[in-house]
Amino acid sequence: MNILILGSGGREHALAWKLVQSKKIKRVFIGPGNAGTAMTGTNIRLDPENFKEVKRAVEEHNINMVIVGPEAPLVGGLHDFFLNDDRLRSVPVIGPDRSAARLEGSKDFAKGFLTRHNIPTAAYRSFNKANMHEAHDFLKQLKPPYVVKADGLAAGKGVLIINSLDDAEKELGAMLEGKFGSAGNKVIIEQYLSGIELSVFIITDGKSYKLLPEAKDYKRVGEGDKGLNTGGMGAVSPVPFADDNFMNKVRTRIIDPTMKGLAEEGIVYKGFIFFGLINVLGDPYVIEYNARLGDPESEVMIPRIKSDLFDLIEGVANSNLAEKQVEIDDRYVSTVMLVSGGYPGNYEKGKIISGLDRTKECVVFHAGTKISDNGIVTSGGRVLAVSSWGATMKEALDGSYRNAGLVTFENMYYRTDIGFDL
Ligand code: AMP
Ligand code: GLY
Repeated sequence: MNILILGSGGREHALAWKLVQSKKIKRVFIGPGNAGTAMTGTNIRLDPENFKEVKRAVEEHNINMVIVGPEAPLVGGLHDFFLNDDRLRSVPVIGPDRSAARLEGSKDFAKGFLTRHNIPTAAYRSFNKANMHEAHDFLKQLKPPYVVKADGLAAGKGVLIINSLDDAEKELGAMLEGKFGSAGNKVIIEQYLSGIELSVFIITDGKSYKLLPEAKDYKRVGEGDKGLNTGGMGAVSPVPFADDNFMNKVRTRIIDPTMKGLAEEGIVYKGFIFFGLINVLGDPYVIEYNARLGDPESEVMIPRIKSDLFDLIEGVANSNLAEKQVEIDDRYVSTVMLVSGGYPGNYEKGKIISGLDRTKECVVFHAGTKISDNGIVTSGGRVLAVSSWGATMKEALDGSYRNAGLVTFENMYYRTDIGFDL
C-alpha cells in the first residue's frame, strides 16, 4: 500500500511519522511536504489545490490512498474530483466530499446544521446584502463583545471579536463589501461565549466513529494568551478539565447528534471531524467544525494514539470502522511551536536551523522548513513543533522546553507558558 498525504505542515509530518510505523504501508509520500517529511517519507512537488497535479502524482507513484491534511482541497471538492474520475475512483480519499466539508467551508451552513439538530452553540443570525439593515436590531439584542464571522474560508482571519456595536456594524458592511472576497457574501453575527476552549477529534466512516485524544491549543502569539491570533503556538493533550463527565456531555450533546444529523441530511462524511468546543461553566458548546485535524493539535494527539492509525483509516476507506479498536496512551504529550520572529505578521525566511541533532526523548515535527544547499532552513512562520511525552503535563512540557532550548535559528521565538491555564 502506497499512501499520499497532502499538505506541508506539522500536522502532515505527524501523520507521516505515525503512518510509516504501520506494517500495512509500503511507502508514504507527502505532497508537497517539508524538510521533516522528506526524512520520514518521500516528498512530491505538487499543489494540493491543483487536482490535476494530485492526479498525476497518484498515477506516477501508484498511490492507493490519499489522506488530506488541510481544509482547502476538501472544501474545493478534491474528494468529488476523485469520485468523478474513472481512473481515480478506486483510490479512497480520506477527507469529506464537498458537501460534507461545508461543515467547515460555510459557517452559515454549520450554524444552520447545529441549530437544526439542537446542538449547543452560540445564538446567531446570518446576514447578506439584502437583509443587512436588520443587523442593527439583532446586535442590540446581544451584549458586547460582538462576534462577526465571514461565512467562507478566510485563511483564519475571518473571525472578529469587536467591542462596540458601531464597529461591529462597520465590519459587517466591510465583509459584505468584499473584504474577504466571496467568503464574505454572507456574514454571521453571534453571541459571545465566555469559557475555555478545547479541540475534540473523531475519525468516521460515515456510519460509526472513534473518539481520538482531545487537545488544547494556544492560538495567541503572546504569553498569557495576549496578542495576535496565530495558527497555534503550542498544545497539550489530554486536557485535564475534559474528564469523563465532561466528555460524556460532548458525546451525547455534540458528537452523537452531529453523526445523526449528517445521516438525516444524507451527508456521508468520511474522514476526521474537529469539534472546536468551548466549556461554558461545565457545558460544552460548539464554536466551529473543521473538516480535518488541527495543527498543532495533531502534534500532541497523534503521538498519543498507540494503535495503528492506518488500521483506523482503512476502516474509513472500507466502511468498517466499527470493527476497529483504538488504544490511547495515558501519558501527556505537549508541543511547543518554534516560530519565525515577527510571525504572524511579516517575517524572514531562509534562516539556517541548527541543533536538531542534539534533541532527544522528543520528536520534532517540521512545519515551515525546507532543505537548501545550506542544510535545513526556515520557510514559514511556524517552523518546528517540539513534542514530548511525560507522566504529568509538567514533565511533558519540561521535555518540550528542554529540547526547544537546543534548537536555534535567527530570530526564533516561542511561548514559554504553554499549558499555563490548565
Ligand atoms: P473560528 O475560526 O470559528 O474558530 O473562530 C476563531 C476563534 O474566535 C475561536 O477559536 C474563538 O476563540 C473565537 N470565537 C469564535 N466564535 C466565538 C464565540 N461565539 N464566542 C467567543 N469566542 C468565539
Ligand atoms: N489549531 C487550530 C486549527 O488547526 O484550526
